[in-house]
Amino acid sequence: MQTILVLGGTGKTGRRVVTRLHERDVPVRIGSRSGDPAFDWEDPATWAPALQGVGAVYVSYYPDLAVPGAPEAVGAFARLAVDSGARRLVLLSGRGEEEAQAAERALIDSGADWTILRAAWFDQNFSENYLLEPVLAGHVVLPAGDVAEPFVDADDIADVAVAALTEDGHSGQVYELTGPRLLTFAEAVAAIAAASGREIGYTRVSPEDYASALAAEGVPADVIDLLIYLFTTVLDGRNASLGDGVRRALGRSPRDFADYAREAAATGIWKAGDA
Ligand SMILES: NC(=O)c1ccc[n+]([C@@H]2O[C@H](COP(=O)([O-])OP(=O)(O)OC[C@H]3O[C@@H](n4cnc5c(N)ncnc54)[C@H](OP(=O)(O)O)[C@@H]3O)[C@@H](O)[C@H]2O)c1
Repeated sequence: MQTILVLGGTGKTGRRVVTRLHERDVPVRIGSRSGDPAFDWEDPATWAPALQGVGAVYVSYYPDLAVPGAPEAVGAFARLAVDSGARRLVLLSGRGEEEAQAAERALIDSGADWTILRAAWFDQNFSENYLLEPVLAGHVVLPAGDVAEPFVDADDIADVAVAALTEDGHSGQVYELTGPRLLTFAEAVAAIAAASGREIGYTRVSPEDYASALAAEGVPADVIDLLIYLFTTVLDGRNASLGDGVRRALGRSPRDFADYAREAAATGIWKAGDA
């Protein structure tokens, strides 16, 4: 089997895809700035070396397909991939992100055999990303209220990605990847509190107050803009429904948030603040 290039191969979904491909003895190349050769979305000169000898690519863009320039970059990368002989492209996209759909179209227009994974918010944002710190501090403050989100487990995304990369029957499919249950952010934090045995408060703030607090912490303006977009546009109720992508792709139910919280708690990740 030809090498599979995993973009974002050290990130939340990418490293899980890499692990699964290693387990199947599939040759893998990690495509990220720390990869060898290095792959950088900001430097198109790094793309061709990473694509050499590659038959399929897991395309995880950074930071988000909704940011300006993403459709152009993804389209140019996909055309280069097809020209280099990589026929199969599996794109990680965001659910309910209209802006991301321009990038999806650009990838589809490359003529590749494509599969689109439109993912809900990842469970792992609470243990491997920007929500870990507030969980450890015992108080999560976000501009998210009663709108519920069907948080999805990154392990499910990786399982679907690996199926699409290595098996037939997934080409031309758009999979809406969600968990089996809708939760508000307050409910998700309560589930983590229950699983970890910690007291963790939750406070809803306005997007304006959230942006001001992030700015005061020195968070760059473009990151603040992206977070406000995600917590307002993407979390306006449009995604408050379950998707059937995990079942369609794998023939099984997605993992529940409570199972994620129990397993993440067992790793000790939410104990780091106890010292
Ligand atoms: N988080 C969510 O809830 C969620 C939900 C739906 C969709 N998504 C989508 O998932 C994608 C990944 O986001 P994420 O937050 O989960 O990040 P992530 O994949 O956990 O982490 C970032 C990965 O990208 C690499 N990277 C960072 N900057 C890069 C650059 N300039 N060029 C090449 N690689 C770079 C990093 O490796 P190096 O540091 O070695 O470069 C790392 O492997 C985004 O497109 C996002 O829209 C996320």
